[in-house]
Amino acid sequence: MTAVRSTQGSSGDVPALEVEDLKMHFGPVRAVDGFSLTLPQGQLTALVGESGSGKTTVGRCVVRLLEPTSGSVKVGGVDMTHLSRRQVRHHDARVSMVFQDPAGSLNPRMLVGDIIAEPLRMGRERLSASRRSARVTAELGRVGLGAEVAYRYAHELSGGQRQRVSIARALISSPSLLIADEPTSALDVSVQASVLNLLADLQRDIGFACLFITHDLSAVEYLADEVAVMYLGQIVEMRPREQIFAAPAHPYTQALLAAAPVADPAVQKRRDPVILGDDLPSPSDPPSGCRFHTRCPLAFDLCTTQIPELRTVPGGVAACHLVQPDGTGSELLGGSERRHI
Ligand SMILES: Nc1ncnc2c1ncn2[C@@H]1O[C@H](COP(=O)(O)OP(=O)(O)O)[C@@H](O)[C@H]1O
Ligand SMILES: [Mg+2]
Repeated sequence: MTAVRSTQGSSGDVPALEVEDLKMHFGPVRAVDGFSLTLPQGQLTALVGESGSGKTTVGRCVVRLLEPTSGSVKVGGVDMTHLSRRQVRHHDARVSMVFQDPAGSLNPRMLVGDIIAEPLRMGRERLSASRRSARVTAELGRVGLGAEVAYRYAHELSGGQRQRVSIARALISSPSLLIADEPTSALDVSVQASVLNLLADLQRDIGFACLFITHDLSAVEYLADEVAVMYLGQIVEMRPREQIFAAPAHPYTQALLAAAPVADPAVQKRRDPVILGDDLPSPSDPPSGCRFHTRCPLAFDLCTTQIPELRTVPGGVAACHLVQPDGTGSELLGGSERRHI
């Protein structure tokens, strides 16, 4: 596989994505409510949280399928919220999205080859039919599909093949940033790993930055450079992968890890005590103070009234009143070992 790193100008130091204080409200529903994140070029950041925490809405704001209520989204240093429609179209080529449900996101009346080639029509280059077809064949090869797939319809393919087509379509415009929204969760368990590995290989070889959205923290244990944990529209912890898996600082991250299946029984034991029993509170009426306090086994008075700021912890940040600068303070040891404040 040929590795072509996209080097557009001297933008090496400019982050692939900068989201600042993003808010996306649907009437009373505060789906995203003060979300900030920086994604360096070429890095894979996992955006993790339960269903309903606002992950997809963040992704849709970044690719401008949604117009944010407020806040800014910069892709490669360019503020997408202040571009004209024509400028946006030009910049759209730099960011692509792969959706959760490959069946729903592929046009059933178009041949696969035309689906994959579609982003090329929106780009600035004018390609001849034969050049376009060669690009489609190359892209199919890159995602592990044969050239003949171009002449099929999406419904004739398996779920895994369809998601490979979605990935090919997303990458044909050589984006500097890919938003992958739960790309494997609608697939058969038996093919999830191969699609995940494909994405990881492509990301490493081509070098695009990737915001990988998932509700399953264990899925990104070997994939992510960095992990951002989202709860009710906000980030509660963001740190490098090794650190977040070795010593999660926020009680919510600890709970997510406890819910994730792990192979090592010793680790399982450590993770056991916290279980996220109740449902996520409504984003129309989020809890006062720390939004996690209604489900947090460590919550005390302050948590019900005061919003915790993101504090510096080793490698990153965490928003919890109990967290100390060394990242400790909120360990959930279970039963009698739990701290009483
Ligand atoms: N178009 C919409 N209109 C109203 N509410 C929405 C809309 N899109 C998402 N929501 C709500 O916003 C919250 C976050 O949704 P979503 O971003 O899909 O979360 P996630 O991807 O983390 O599961 C949910 O409560 C969801 O019901
Ligand atoms: Mg979602």
